Amino acid sequence: MGGAGLGLAAGCAVATCAIAAVMVGHRVRSRRRWGRAVALVREFEEASATSVGRLRQVVDAMAVEMHAGLASEGGSKLRMSLTFIDNLPDGSEEGTYYALDLGGTNFRVLQIQFSGKGSMILTHRVQRQPISQELMTGTREELFNFIASTLKQFVQREDDGIDQIPDVRKDLGFTFSFPVRQLSVSSGLLIKWTKGFSIKDAVGKDVAQCLNEAMLKTGLNMRVAALVNDTVGTLALGHYYDVDTVAAVIIGTGTNACYLERTDAIIKYQGLLMNSGDMVVNMEWGNFWSSHLPRTPYDISLDDESPNRNEQARLSSGFEKMISGMYLGEIVRRVLQRMAEESDIFPDAVQNLSVPFVLRTPLMAAMHEDGSPDLREVGRILEDHLKISGVSLKARRLLVRVCDIVTRRAARLAAAGIVGILKKIGRDGSAGVASGRTKGKPRRTVVAIEGGLYVGYSMFREYLNEAVAEILGEEVAPPCLFSALLPAIVIQHYLKQMPSCPDYLVQNHPHCQVLKQQAVDSLKIKLFHIKPFLFLVSSTPK
Ligand code: BGC
Repeated sequence: MGGAGLGLAAGCAVATCAIAAVMVGHRVRSRRRWGRAVALVREFEEASATSVGRLRQVVDAMAVEMHAGLASEGGSKLRMSLTFIDNLPDGSEEGTYYALDLGGTNFRVLQIQFSGKGSMILTHRVQRQPISQELMTGTREELFNFIASTLKQFVQREDDGIDQIPDVRKDLGFTFSFPVRQLSVSSGLLIKWTKGFSIKDAVGKDVAQCLNEAMLKTGLNMRVAALVNDTVGTLALGHYYDVDTVAAVIIGTGTNACYLERTDAIIKYQGLLMNSGDMVVNMEWGNFWSSHLPRTPYDISLDDESPNRNEQARLSSGFEKMISGMYLGEIVRRVLQRMAEESDIFPDAVQNLSVPFVLRTPLMAAMHEDGSPDLREVGRILEDHLKISGVSLKARRLLVRVCDIVTRRAARLAAAGIVGILKKIGRDGSAGVASGRTKGKPRRTVVAIEGGLYVGYSMFREYLNEAVAEILGEEVAPPCLFSALLPAIVIQHYLKQMPSCPDYLVQNHPHCQVLKQQAVDSLKIKLFHIKPFLFLVSSTPK
């Protein structure tokens, strides 16, 4: 071989080596970047861990805070508010009622007829009305005027002969799902807004009075007879179907719980509470905080960037931010954003992932529950909603794992909250037979659960149910976790003659029997819309 040839060969070799080196370097870097993404997920998973030991600490902390909140006003982050509700419906209620449900980006007006015979509902009519962003952040007058005029149109339309004496003032049940300092069963001051509402001039005002004034202005002859939180409505509905229902939990856009407490345990209001029976206490558990909650840097940054930055308010809604639908997608987005910044697994996605709340929880749930082998739905959501394309299958798998970590933690913490309530009222099995042990005669305990996360997100529901049983341990029969909405879903399946319909549920659930007689159209109305009426029934003098 001549010198020139040698030189050429050597040159080629050098170039080949250089290219190979570049390629190796590229692969090593890309492996490192992938490794970085995996490491971030692992760190997040460790920081989010909810071992059963930790969950039991959360249970204890919840029970302790409940005691503290009942002992003195401001004694705990849990508000433990009085509701003035000391009896619940039991299925014997009769007549036609109106209600209004305001708690998220929609409000609902409802009319319902109770038969008076064993939890039988004769008819129910519902109108759902979206609330615009402008109304959610405008003035109280604008919001309540809009609600009153929608209600008026509904009443005029639906009042076809049901109302025998049209000039008599009608009572209205008002489910208002924001923190309120209740003054009586039909009045209460708004403490603060949650879930994206921010109508400054309504804070500190009696929301029932605001609605009464707006109804008067529109010429609607109605008054608020019962002002209740959505948890209280759910407890009422649960009790209507099953008198062993002792607590209710909402896990939707926001989260909260209420339960039946002995009045002598509500120490802070001893002067006020004369009778010695029970009273429903609205916990506002979204505010719960404990150092045992597994808090990650993503939760901290979410808190830091929330509008209330001062230290006192910083951790407010800490539990809600780890659990509820308003925030789960946002936590996932924050993790993905960091992964995009520190690795290349989401090509050119840093900017798209940096928009707060761009990944809403329903999208996150859809990605989490994508059962296709190539995670097609994940790819579609990334492209359609986040404008991120070209994400590899292994990166999509990693993304699903992030969704799983966030959802699992949320569901398990909610489960710990529920067991915390059971512990406070002596139904967790720790006090022996009387409190729910399987040996001897157990007392039935039913907890009613509502809200989109529990009802509509099956992995969330499974994680929650599983964790309740895990925390209570094998010796204790877990409480019956009951969603009033589920029978309605079952019956819809039944009417569509889906083979998967569990017939026993249709046959055994009284409400299923009722629904069976109704038209398919009305079945689209979900059962939980009924709850405010139930409350009205139970709380107004007949
Ligand atoms: C509100 C509660 C409500 C819960 C569920 C929370 O943001 O503070 O009053 O019960 O959401 O809707």
